[in-house]
Amino acid sequence: MQTSGGSIEILDLRHFSAPVLRPVLELEGELWEKRLHWDYHASARLLMQYLDNHMLPGYAALASGRVTGYVFCVYEETKAVIGDVFALPNENNGTASTTEETLLRHLFELLLNSPHVERIEAQLLLHPSGTFGAIFRDAGFEIFRRLFLVQTLQAHSKPAPSNLPADLELRPWREADLAPAARLICEAYREHPDSLINDQYRSVHGSMRFLNNIVHYAGCGSFSQQASYVVVERNSRELAALVLGSRVSGQSGHLTQVCVHPAFRRRGLARMLLAQAAHSFARLGATEISLTVTEVNAEAIELYKEEGYTCAHSFDAAVWLRDATP
Ligand SMILES: CC(C)(COP(=O)(O)OP(=O)(O)OC[C@H]1O[C@@H](n2cnc3c(N)ncnc32)[C@H](O)[C@@H]1OP(=O)(O)O)[C@@H](O)C(=O)NCCC(=O)NCCS
Repeated sequence: MQTSGGSIEILDLRHFSAPVLRPVLELEGELWEKRLHWDYHASARLLMQYLDNHMLPGYAALASGRVTGYVFCVYEETKAVIGDVFALPNENNGTASTTEETLLRHLFELLLNSPHVERIEAQLLLHPSGTFGAIFRDAGFEIFRRLFLVQTLQAHSKPAPSNLPADLELRPWREADLAPAARLICEAYREHPDSLINDQYRSVHGSMRFLNNIVHYAGCGSFSQQASYVVVERNSRELAALVLGSRVSGQSGHLTQVCVHPAFRRRGLARMLLAQAAHSFARLGATEISLTVTEVNAEAIELYKEEGYTCAHSFDAAVWLRDATP
């Protein structure tokens, strides 16, 4: 498929191999570092492997024979997840967004015309909230604003005070926690706005998939077992709460998940787990921790603010449902 969008050409991403995209990925990496203190190298390497396998659905933008941008998605059964969109600034007007919008429109057209795709999700973390609001809405997506919060770590932060009731036990994450953690996530996010954004949270099977991606496939930085903890209920051996940490750069840890079972809320478990993860990351040499939270999740935001997190960036999550489109 080849169409034109102004002076750029849009071509199937599977025609290209990694080296031609390298300048685009390098500039993107600089932006990840600058905006989010996130080391993009591991993600770029993974992306380049997929590109070299010529299996990644998406599009590349070309100007004067040079690749200047890309967009891609991955399929999970009947869902498509838009993984990323990025373009070099246009030489004429200095902005990347026209090329990025053109790339996104091509991807929307592909996905909306793929009958097996029932749902599309996107969380374009790098791009400030509102950047693509109009074109997502025009294509029938619902948008949820999300915040990127950051806490500066004290080099000698204290470990969380352990004043848990006798029926609960705090311990580091273990591989065998995957299945109970999936059950906990499914319970914790019942009727929760985040399960509108990520439908994996709505089932144990989906939560397992989410966890596998985080823990085994560097889905969001490299999983840090030393900064991940669970609270276990001694009788049932089920999990009452958990925090999962990943390393996203030498200086930054990232919390990929914090949740507490509804039966154990407002007892200070989340606050304790945040302090525990912060202490561990500080000991591992990180100087800050980040996390993302949906703007309507007021209780969680209240907790993070009290713990000293401040908002460093905002971005949009977008969801499209085939059934919701007239
Ligand atoms: C958000 C969540 C993790 C809080 O867990 P928790 O163990 O109940 O939180 P804590 O008891 O440690 O609460 C600490 C503070 O957070 C705030 N807070 C927590 N829940 C609140 C609520 N329902 N309403 C208002 N404030 C709340 C309060 O300031 C509270 O302090 P206080 O109890 O002294 O008033 C939990 O509600 C949860 O799992 N929610 C669903 C999953 C989720 O949203 N995770 C965060 C995704 S970014």
